[in-house]
Amino acid sequence: MQQSQILRNLCFFVAFSSMAVVVLGLCNNCQENGVACLNETHYRFCSPNVAPNQIARCSDGQVCTSLGIICIEKGAYDPACSDSAADGSCPTCDGSSMFVCTSRTTFQMCDGSTLTSQVTKCKDNKICSIKSGKYCVDLCEAGVSVECDREAPL
Ligand SMILES: *[C@@H]1O[C@H](CO)[C@@H](O)[C@H](O)[C@H]1NC(C)=O
Repeated sequence: MQQSQILRNLCFFVAFSSMAVVVLGLCNNCQENGVACLNETHYRFCSPNVAPNQIARCSDGQVCTSLGIICIEKGAYDPACSDSAADGSCPTCDGSSMFVCTSRTTFQMCDGSTLTSQVTKCKDNKICSIKSGKYCVDLCEAGVSVECDREAPL
């Protein structure tokens, strides 16, 4: 296989496995590394030998992940439980943006601080990313995170 093809396959693999993660939602879920991330920065231990109801926190600038080392520099790896997944929130029209993502794969136009009703869909296998400036991107594109972690617009 040519290298570009290998990269493309890897990209698809990563995109689909991250989609799976997104779909399952990894908030408050015990992972193989022995903790459950509660949001981007906080986690709890899953071992029955640790006293219950104790919440630990990653160091400043780090996020809770499914990796063995648990906390890693923000941006180096996707948080297992993003803050938007943790509270189910999505960007709102605040006058600063012409469009907002209203689900993982859709976006809508803002009229000032009002959301207009027309829903525009991303192509298959793309996710909404208004921050990218391209509306929709491959999930494996550098620096992309899910802006609105919802199956469909409300
Ligand atoms: C993350 O969760 C912890 C524990 O529930 C909470 O104290 C903290 O405020 C949360 N952080 C954010 C950014 O929501």
